[in-house]
Amino acid sequence: MTREMRGTASACSNIALIKYWGKRDFTDNIPLNGSLSMTLSQATTTTTVIWDDTLSQDEIYLDGERVLDGRGLRVSRYLDRIRADYYRMPARVASMNSFPAGTGIASSASGFAALATAAFAAMGEEMPSDTEMTRWARRGSGSACRSIHGGFVEWLPGTSDADSTAVQLAGEDFWDLRDLVVLVSRAPKAISSSEGHKIATRHPFMAARQELLPARMLATKGAVAARDLMTLGALVEQEALEMHAIMMSGQPAALYMQPGTLKLLHAIRAWREDGLPVFFTLDAGPNVHVLCESRDAPEVRARIEQLMPGLSILENRAGPGVRVHEDHLL
Ligand code: DP6
Repeated sequence: MTREMRGTASACSNIALIKYWGKRDFTDNIPLNGSLSMTLSQATTTTTVIWDDTLSQDEIYLDGERVLDGRGLRVSRYLDRIRADYYRMPARVASMNSFPAGTGIASSASGFAALATAAFAAMGEEMPSDTEMTRWARRGSGSACRSIHGGFVEWLPGTSDADSTAVQLAGEDFWDLRDLVVLVSRAPKAISSSEGHKIATRHPFMAARQELLPARMLATKGAVAARDLMTLGALVEQEALEMHAIMMSGQPAALYMQPGTLKLLHAIRAWREDGLPVFFTLDAGPNVHVLCESRDAPEVRARIEQLMPGLSILENRAGPGVRVHEDHLL
């Protein structure tokens, strides 16, 4: 008998305010420390999975193109983990990003949150709990566990596959914080985040970072709970620069910042001196995430456009968690 089972899910990417950089375990993506993120409303991946026992192997389509390279292999390896516990049949998978690929916006976070959810939705049985889905997303890409939830999310690091899960701290309507992602450079990364995690894990500064992180995490959670941007912003900038200090001084070293990155970081600090409450964070790349209150977003956008004309800016608010729906791609 031929069986075909289809499911579709959409998930938003997220920006880490406290970073996941360094792993305790590389198979299950168990992090060295907890992290905290905001889900990003405007950076969405939609994925359809069809389990199909008439296929001889997986067929993976990303942004409309069949992929046969490492990206397709990563998806197939991931599906193997689901197959080990559930259906043993091949799958046809299609995935579309709302944002252009290769811009440095983390597509693995939204990508694996959507893939995990679509894969389970396609089984046509009761979905696992949200907590269990954070485990499944994390096994694909660590940061993806935070994209299962909307709003503000904490990844409780745990020490094993069973206890490393993500929880929602506040929903997407809790605080109308904005993250304007400024696409400073589209140059491909010299060092992937997977490689970066390995370099970070053996970095001599990592022990000191682990000692000071619990206090920073507590203060960051307090600042989110109080919707206190001045406190949050100071913590988040320190955190981003600390991560980049580890990146820049690792073996091999990763210099993700470009001239445009630094130009914008200095401008943000100058605007703040001027009285505009605006802060930055960075991912493993040159793009700048500019954080401000919604009422200041038009002014912040105008200043960025004046400083660096022509750059794309993607303005996010806190986005929703992953959702299953019927707008199938296949
Ligand atoms: C700098 O989640 O992409 O964005 O688990 O190997 O897939 P893998 O890594 P990934 O790492 C994200 C690193 C970061 C910080 C963060 O999102 O917390």
